[in-house]
Amino acid sequence: MREKDTNRKIKLSVRNLTRTYEETNEPVEALRDVNLEVAESEFVMIVGPSGCGKTTLINIIGGLDHATRGEVLLDGRAVSGPGADRGMVFQGYSLFPWLTVRKNVEFGLKMKGVSKAERARQSQKYIELVGLTGFEDALPRQLSGGMKQRVAIARTLANEPEVLLMDEPFGALDAQTRVVMQELLADISRRTGTTILFITHDIDEAVLLGDRIYVMSRRPGTIRDVLTVNIPGERSHNSLVLPEFLDTKKKIMDMLWQESNDAALDR
Ligand SMILES: Nc1ncnc2c1ncn2[C@@H]1O[C@H](COP(=O)(O)OP(=O)(O)OP(=O)(O)O)[C@@H](O)[C@H]1O
Ligand SMILES: [Mg+2]
Repeated sequence: MREKDTNRKIKLSVRNLTRTYEETNEPVEALRDVNLEVAESEFVMIVGPSGCGKTTLINIIGGLDHATRGEVLLDGRAVSGPGADRGMVFQGYSLFPWLTVRKNVEFGLKMKGVSKAERARQSQKYIELVGLTGFEDALPRQLSGGMKQRVAIARTLANEPEVLLMDEPFGALDAQTRVVMQELLADISRRTGTTILFITHDIDEAVLLGDRIYVMSRRPGTIRDVLTVNIPGERSHNSLVLPEFLDTKKKIMDMLWQESNDAALDR
């Protein structure tokens, strides 16, 4: 069981990050001076209005895009370019359609030259963790959206990244499946202590999963506020109606409402 201890060491930090896309006719300032921190084993959410630069931010952290100014530090060291220390899960499942569940999960390990026996052990562990025991030999097309996303999570975790970066991973799922997947992820976080940075525009999702939530402004995306979530007990669908949940949800709704109101006044 991991401790919800606020004095944990900082795993990931983003310092004064700015990203302006100059590749376009008119430069687009996507992010301005973003600062954030994620402690070891912490589950941090970023919520913000559509187009505020969330994907840009997580892509820079994952090394898929570069900052115009500022830096990303992992365990105090600046990162540039992609690396196995940062595992990414996107909305699209990005599985290999011709590989079975087991082979998809083992893929990264095989690339690293991990032995067959060790690969089998690792893949079994993570397939079990995401609740896919019995589906090892299925192909992605035989699976539902939620199950495919379970495979994507298992595959990323099997590489044992230092941080798990998730960009709206449940965005394409129906409401019911989404809650099931949120409960699964809350459980994985509790059981493995994986450090998670998770991006969403869904306020319920942010409050249900986060230890802390960064709220972004509209574009150019800045950090508008950061909230600590205090919900008693383990997070589950039952948390959705607790007064502490609703209180935090209301605060964020007000902030995002103000952002879209200000945007309307600008037009
Ligand atoms: N490669 C690019 N070139 C130019 N502009 C870009 C590029 N990628 C993103 N943008 C712009 O940067 C801004 C931020 O985009 P981004 O995708 O990061 O936002 P987002 O918060 O993830 O949006 P959504 O909520 O729709 O997922 C948008 O105005 C977008 O049009
Ligand atoms: Mg996005």
